[in-house]
Amino acid sequence: MDGVNFFLTFHLLILCSSTVLVPVKANNNETDLYALISFKSLISGDPLGMLSSWNNTLPHCQWTGVMCGRSHTDRVTALVLNSKELSGHISPSLANLTFLQKLSLSDNKLTGSIPDDLGRLSRLRFINFSINSLEGRIPSTLGNCSNLKVLSLRNNNLGGTIPADLANCKKLTIVNLRKNVLVGAIPPEFGSLQQLTALTLGNNNLTGTIPPELGNLTNLQGLLLHFNTFKDSIPSSFGKLQSLESLYLYDNNISGKIPNSLYNISSIIDLELSTNQIHGTLPSDICKYFPDLQTLYLYENQLSGEIPISLPNCSFLSSIDIQHNSFTGTIPPSIGKLSYLYWLNAANNQFSAKIPNDWDFF
Ligand SMILES: *[C@@H]1O[C@H](CO)[C@@H](O)[C@H](O)[C@H]1NC(C)=O
Ligand SMILES: *[C@@H]1O[C@H](CO)[C@@H](O)[C@H](O)[C@H]1NC(C)=O
Ligand SMILES: *[C@@H]1O[C@H](CO)[C@@H](O)[C@H](O)[C@H]1NC(C)=O
Ligand SMILES: *[C@@H]1O[C@H](CO)[C@@H](O)[C@H](O)[C@H]1NC(C)=O
Ligand SMILES: *[C@@H]1O[C@H](CO)[C@@H](O)[C@H](O)[C@H]1NC(C)=O
Ligand SMILES: *[C@@H]1O[C@H](CO)[C@@H](O)[C@H](O)[C@H]1NC(C)=O
Ligand SMILES: *[C@@H]1O[C@H](CO)[C@@H](O)[C@H](O)[C@H]1NC(C)=O
Ligand SMILES: *[C@@H]1O[C@H](CO)[C@@H](O)[C@H](O)[C@H]1NC(C)=O
Ligand SMILES: *[C@@H]1O[C@H](CO)[C@@H](O)[C@H](O)[C@H]1NC(C)=O
Ligand SMILES: *[C@@H]1O[C@H](CO)[C@@H](O)[C@H](O)[C@H]1NC(C)=O
Repeated sequence: MDGVNFFLTFHLLILCSSTVLVPVKANNNETDLYALISFKSLISGDPLGMLSSWNNTLPHCQWTGVMCGRSHTDRVTALVLNSKELSGHISPSLANLTFLQKLSLSDNKLTGSIPDDLGRLSRLRFINFSINSLEGRIPSTLGNCSNLKVLSLRNNNLGGTIPADLANCKKLTIVNLRKNVLVGAIPPEFGSLQQLTALTLGNNNLTGTIPPELGNLTNLQGLLLHFNTFKDSIPSSFGKLQSLESLYLYDNNISGKIPNSLYNISSIIDLELSTNQIHGTLPSDICKYFPDLQTLYLYENQLSGEIPISLPNCSFLSSIDIQHNSFTGTIPPSIGKLSYLYWLNAANNQFSAKIPNDWDFF
C-alpha cells in the first residue's frame, strides 16, 4: 500500500512540477517572448540589474516592466522601464508585440534611432522615450499608430523635420518633442488633431510661419513653441483657442502686432512672448479679457504705448516682465496692491516718473 501511495504521490509530484513548468511555455506566445529577448539583447548596459528577472525561470509576463493582457493573458500590453539607467538601442523587435498599448522607456541612456517598425503597433496608445539620447528622425510610420494618444520624445537628439504623417494619429492628446534638434516648419496638418491638449515643440531649430491651422485646436491648453526661429506674426486664428492656458512663443523671431483676436482667449493664464520683434500697444482694459492671467512676459520686444491701466485688475498676476520695450507713461500705482505679485521688471523702457506719486507702485 505504502509503495502504491508512494508511487502515486511521486507520480503526482512529477505531474505537479510539470504543470508548474510546462504551462509557462505552453501559454507563452513565442512571438512576444522572442521579441522581449531580442529587446534585452540590444540593452548593453543595465547597472541596476533591472533585466535580471528576464530569464526562463519566470514567464515573460512576470518580468520586470512587462505587463500582459487580462483577456490575452500571454500577450504583452505594456513595457514600462523608466529611470532604470538602461543603455543600448531600442530593438525593432518590439514591433512584434502586437498587443502593446504602452511603451515607456523614458529617462534612460538609450541611443540609436527609433525603429520604423513601431508604426506596425496599431494598438499602441502611449509612447514615452523622453530623456534619452536618441537620434535620427522621428519615423513617419508612427502615423500608422491610429490609437496613439501620447507621444513624448522630449530631451533627445532627434533631428530632421516633424513628420506630417503624425497628423494621422487623430487620437493624439499630448505631443511633446521639446529639446531636440528638429528643423523645418510645423506641419499645418497638425491643425486637424482635434483631441490635442498639449503641443510642446520648444527648444528645437524649427522655422517658418506658425501655421494658422493650429487655431483649429480648440481643446489645446498648452502651446509651447519657445526657443525656435519661427517668424512672421502670431496667427489671428489663435483667437479660436478657447481652452488655451499657456502660450509660450518666447525666443523666436516673431514680428507684427499681437492680433486683437488673442484677447478673446479668456482662459489664458501664462502668456510669454518675450524676445521677439513684436510691436504695437496693449489694450488698456487687458484684464477684462484675461481675468485669470498669472504670468505676463513680454520683455525684449518693441511694444510701445502705456502700460495698461487695468493691469492691477488681473488679481492673480504673479509675474510681470516687460523690460526692454518702448513703453511710455507711468506704471499704474495700484499695481503694488496685487497680492500674488512677486516679480515685476519694467526696466529699460521710457517711463517717466516726474512727480513722487508716480513711484507709488513701490
Ligand atoms: C502569437 O502571436 C502571433 C502574432 O499576433 C500570432 O500570429 C500567433 O498565432 C500567436 N501564437 C499563439 C500560440 O498564441
Ligand atoms: C531569474 O529571475 C529570478 C526572479 O527575479 C531570480 O530570482 C533569479 O536569480 C534569476 N536567475 C538568473 C540566472 O539570473
Ligand atoms: C518578428 O517576428 C518574426 C517571427 O519570429 C521574425 O521573423 C521577425 O524578424 C520579427 N520582426 C522584427 C522586427 O524583429
Ligand atoms: C514621460 O517621461 C518623463 C520622464 O520620466 C516624465 O517626466 C513624463 O511625465 C512622462 N510623460 C508622460 C506624458 O507621462
Ligand atoms: C504605414 O504608413 C506608411 C506610410 O506612412 C505606409 O507606407 C505603410 O505601408 C504603413 N504600414 C506599415 C505597417 O508600416
Ligand atoms: C540649432 O540651433 C542652434 C542654436 O541656434 C545651433 O547651435 C545648432 O547648430 C542648430 N542645430 C541644427 C541641427 O541646425
Ligand atoms: C483650420 O484652420 C484653417 C486656417 O485657420 C482654415 O482655413 C481651415 O478651414 C480650418 N479647418 C477646419 C477643419 O476647421
Ligand atoms: C528675423 O527676422 C528678420 C526679418 O524680420 C530677419 O532679418 C532676421 O534675419 C531674422 N533672424 C533670424 C535669426 O532668423
Ligand atoms: C471673439 O469672439 C467672438 C465670439 O466668440 C467673435 O464674435 C469675435 O469675432 C471674436 N473677435 C475676434 C477679434 O476674433
Ligand atoms: C477694474 O475693475 C473694477 C471692478 O471690476 C472696474 O470697476 C474698473 O473699471 C476696472 N478698471 C479698469 C482700468 O479696467
